[in-house]
Parts: sequence; structure tokens; C-alpha cells
Amino acid sequence: MTFTNKLLVLNKRRDVAKKCAEIFVEAVKNKPDIVLGLPTGKTFVPIYHEIVKLCKKEKVSLAKVRTFNLDEFFGLKSGDKKSFRHYMDKNFFDKVDIARKNIFFLNGDVGDFKKECDDYEQEIRKAGGIDLQFLGIGVNGHIGFNEPGSVFTSRTRRVELTKSTREENASEFGSAAKVPQFALTVGIGTVLKSRKIVLAATGKTKSQIIEEVVCGKISKKIPASALRKHKDVCFLLDKDAASRV
Ligand code: GLP
Repeated sequence: MTFTNKLLVLNKRRDVAKKCAEIFVEAVKNKPDIVLGLPTGKTFVPIYHEIVKLCKKEKVSLAKVRTFNLDEFFGLKSGDKKSFRHYMDKNFFDKVDIARKNIFFLNGDVGDFKKECDDYEQEIRKAGGIDLQFLGIGVNGHIGFNEPGSVFTSRTRRVELTKSTREENASEFGSAAKVPQFALTVGIGTVLKSRKIVLAATGKTKSQIIEEVVCGKISKKIPASALRKHKDVCFLLDKDAASRV
């Protein structure tokens, strides 16, 4: 399965979720101990739902799969219900047979965030690198929490969140002002090292940024435009997200 910068436009959000699940399950069947990079966000809630369903239907075990999540809010306690770790447990990990020891996550509840980030890069390297990275996208073009201005060689680090990103995440926290100011994220350079990448985007709110990412200039102002430098990427979109392309 090679994507080579493919733009795949499907009718509805649900079709995107199903296609993503097919890609996921096929990849695990081909390599049961695959190393996956995983995102959070509303786009991926129906996607995880379909992956869980398809794993059950096709009796695919995730026991040997290793996962590295992209990012975490900085300063939240480990079990916090607003953390990405909680999102992943609730939407995915608790519903499949993945081994807890194979789940890797940035811990936003640490003092020495520099060490946390360097150790995470080290763990990814030790695992042999990411085979397949799934991504969502923010309305400002961020991937993970790599905000506009992030350099394409950036590695796992602590970042300051933009106003737009804090607004996008406001519903979980009650208001944008309550969203943590900082987060830990893998870098764009880290993402670009993945062997394959699938970016999923759905809905009209993503149409403008998708147009810029796919048709505009490759620039650090639009972090996701870096993906066009990768040789094996699939942009998986519904008609709404692709409406300006
Ligand atoms: C968050 C995450 C990203 C995600 C993005 C889009 O900020 N850090 O990894 O891709 O939001 O989220 P949504 O799918 O909710 O639009």
C-alpha cells in the first residue's frame, strides 16, 4: 500500500472514518507489530469508533501494536478527563486488546519537560520509527500541536498554543481561557520521518486550510504544508473539507 501524495475525496464524514479504519486494519494485518502514530481531536472520534468495529469484525488483534500519540496538554494531571490520554482511553485503548506497555504517551504532568520530550524521541527511535502516522489538522494548519511558524525540522518539544487552537479546544475546558497555555508535541521533523502518513479532515470548517495545504505555498506559516515534502502521504477528505480544492 503506497499513497504517494494521494488526495482521496469521499462523500461523507462516515466514509472517511470507514476508509481510515480499513487502512488501519490492513496495515496491522500486514505487520502485527506495527508502530503507529496517533492523533486526537473530534475528527478522529468516529474514526476510532470504526477502527474498533472493524477490528472486532475481522478479529484483528492489536496485542503487538505499539502506539505513540502526537501530543498532550502541558500541566494537566495524568488522569485529568480533559487530557488527550483520557480521550484515547475512552475512545480507543479501553475498547481494543492493545497491551498497556505498548502505549506511549507524552506526559504533560512533569517538571522536566525537556527530558520528557527527548526521552519520547528516544523511545520512537528504539521502536524503529513510526510505520504509519495518522493526523488530523487544526483550522490554522497545525499538525499535532505544531503551530504556524514551527520549523519543518522541529522535534518533540514544549510549545505555546495559539489563540485559535485554544478556541478550537475550548469546549472540553469550558472556555478558551481555561485551555492550558502550553502543550508537548512531537515535531514536524518527527512526523516527516514516518514511513507513511494519513491526514484525515472532514467538514466545511476545514475547507479553507485544506485548500492552502494542498494548493498553496509550502511554508512554515502552514505547518501541514510540510507534508507535501513527504513521499508517501494520503490526504483523506470528505466532500466538504475538499470543497475548495
Ligand atoms: C487538536 C490536536 C490535533 C488535531 C486538531 C484537530 O488541537 N492537537 O492533533 O488534529 O486538534 O482537531 P479536530 O479534529 O477536533 O478538528
